[in-house]
Amino acid sequence: MRLDRFFSSTGLLTRRETAVAVRRGEILQNGRPVFRPDVQVDPATDRITLRGEPVVYREFVYFFLHKPTGYVSATEDGRFPVVTDLLPEAERRRGLFPCGRLDKDTSGLMLLTDDGALCHALLSPRRGVEKVYRFVCASPLPPEAERSLLAGLTLENGEACRAAVLRADEDRLGGYVTLTEGKYHEVRRLVAALGSRVTSLTRVSFAGIPLDPALSPGECRPVTGEELAILRAAAGKETEK
Ligand code: URA
Repeated sequence: MRLDRFFSSTGLLTRRETAVAVRRGEILQNGRPVFRPDVQVDPATDRITLRGEPVVYREFVYFFLHKPTGYVSATEDGRFPVVTDLLPEAERRRGLFPCGRLDKDTSGLMLLTDDGALCHALLSPRRGVEKVYRFVCASPLPPEAERSLLAGLTLENGEACRAAVLRADEDRLGGYVTLTEGKYHEVRRLVAALGSRVTSLTRVSFAGIPLDPALSPGECRPVTGEELAILRAAAGKETEK
C-alpha cells in the first residue's frame, strides 16, 4: 500500500499532509526517512513513525456513539448537525458513517464505522439483529399490545412488521420494545398503530450490547475488542425470515 494511503486511512494525515511530512523528514519507515509519499509500505511488517511516534494501522474503525436528539443519522445535511460531527477530528477525516439510522428526535446507541461489509450484514433483515428501544408514550398502551406486536402488526400503509417483543411499564405509558428489523420510524408507527403516540424514544441496546451508561448524549468511544466480536458474531448469524 502507498504511504499516503496508509496515512489517510489512519485519519492522521491527508495525502497532501503526508507529502509535506515526507518533505520535512518527519516520517520514518523501519528507522529510515521516507523520501516519497508514494513509497510502498506493508502495514503488517513495516515500522512507521510520524514525528517519532509509532503509527498503528487500523484497517477499520468502530465507535459507539450515544446519539443525542437533534442530530441527523448521516454524514452531511444541509440543515441539521449530523452524527459524524460528534466524532474526534481524526476519525471524521477517515470517513466513518452511521451503521443504520435513528430519527433526528431519537437518541441512543449508534455504531459508527468505515467497515461497510460489517455494517451491511448488521443491517440485513436476514440477520435479524436485535435492537431494543425504550419509549414513553402519551396515552396508555392497550391491554392487547404485547400480543399484537408479537403476532406482527400491520402499519397504516399496509406494511407488515415482524414480530416484536414489548415489555410495557406497569402504568402502560411506555416500555421496551425489541425489533429485529429497521423499518422507517418503526417504533413510532407501531405505537401509533396501537392507538398511542411516542413522546420520547431511545435505543438502549444493539446486537445485545447495551448503551454504555458512561456515555452521555453526544459522547462516543471506540468499540472494545469484546464488543466487536459480538457484532461480528451477530453479523454472521442468519435468522429465519
Ligand atoms: N423506530 C423509530 O420510530 N425511530 C427510530 O429512530 C428507530 C426506530
